[in-house]
Amino acid sequence: MYRPVTTSRTSLSPWIIAFIVFGVFGVLGITIGLLVHFLAVENTVYYYQGSFKVLDTPYNTNYERETSSENNYLSKILETKMVDAFQSSSIYRQYINSQVITLVPDNNSVTAHIWLIFKAPRSMKEPTRRKIESILHQMLSNHSGSLTTDSKSLRLVEISKVNAEKMINNRCGRRARMSATFDRVKGGSSAREGDWPWQASLKINGRHYCGASLISDRYLVTAAHCFRKTQNPKNYTVSFGTKVTPPYMRHYVQQIIIHEDYIVGEHHDDIAVVMLTEKVIFNNDVHRVCLPEATQSFPPGEGVVVTGWGALSYNGEYPVLLQKAPVKIIDTNTCNSREAYNGAIQDTMLCAGYIEGNIDACQGDSGGPLVHPNSRYIWFLVGIVSWGAECGKVNKPGVYVRVTAYRSWIASKTGI
Ligand code: ARG
Repeated sequence: MYRPVTTSRTSLSPWIIAFIVFGVFGVLGITIGLLVHFLAVENTVYYYQGSFKVLDTPYNTNYERETSSENNYLSKILETKMVDAFQSSSIYRQYINSQVITLVPDNNSVTAHIWLIFKAPRSMKEPTRRKIESILHQMLSNHSGSLTTDSKSLRLVEISKVNAEKMINNRCGRRARMSATFDRVKGGSSAREGDWPWQASLKINGRHYCGASLISDRYLVTAAHCFRKTQNPKNYTVSFGTKVTPPYMRHYVQQIIIHEDYIVGEHHDDIAVVMLTEKVIFNNDVHRVCLPEATQSFPPGEGVVVTGWGALSYNGEYPVLLQKAPVKIIDTNTCNSREAYNGAIQDTMLCAGYIEGNIDACQGDSGGPLVHPNSRYIWFLVGIVSWGAECGKVNKPGVYVRVTAYRSWIASKTGI
């Protein structure tokens, strides 16, 4: 039987075949590329919480208090040990930050609760965690220096970003967002969100009137002279965040406690505490500053920062965004010299700024914070903006309430 042979079947042209092959390889290539990228190249941030014991430390409840010198001393040693250990390890590129969060004393030992951040590609998550553990283990078994640490007591678990931030935001004076850049800006400049989370705006009938600082989830400190116009809590609101208007997180005032020795028109004892009607829910952008111990000293020359929404110049314009200005503590004798304030500075006050003028707080900054970072970058409230002759004038630096002088007064009114 005859069958015609069809040589030209409806075959695909070589061009189409080539096209399909390229297409398939292309898609495959991109998929593999993306997978490699996400698993092996792109870094993910991981948070860890841990603890270990420091042995041979006599029982002392002061370790527990976050602002005590005992707490700071031991925390600083442990934090330095951790930074050194991680930075000289093979995973130094993955290391971002480590901190001591709390210290819990018991009989003859102190348990340190720590907090760590690392970045690593997804595929390296487990190896990185094991490496962190082994570095800490090694660090704890190495007893150089005066501390005896117990490597067997080491615990380490991964935690979520939310919980990691919560841990930081519940402590005083810390920033949740880490940044490599510390204030190098000279002169007043706009603040970044979250850098001064304790700064509050005290408003009268919705308009910014004074600054204030959050010292717990219920209390703020401010200047007594901020209540000159009215002392009725109902006239005041408190807001947070870097913008004064529209207010971010508005709160109402339950009670205003003005220092009993404050006299309107005079400068001494210019301090007050404000109790809110409801608790503030801390977040990255809103949480409390540390109060210094009464015995803490802040020597002349120390760098401090004043923040506020006050006037940009004397009788000048007001900013919308929170401003920060780096200033220096000036010793009281210099500040009391004839050219300066001629004896008006009492030892419950503190001068900060520059004798040559220029950088200073101004009208509307009153009641706001003057803060100092300790060696662990934990921020303490050292002053409350109180008074000054105009703003930024030569020989007329800003005058602040010396917070350490009122530490027990604050405690007596707030329990903090
Ligand atoms: N008393 C002013 C106020 O009510 C603040 C004064 C601060 N002045 C200064 N030069 N530092 O806002």
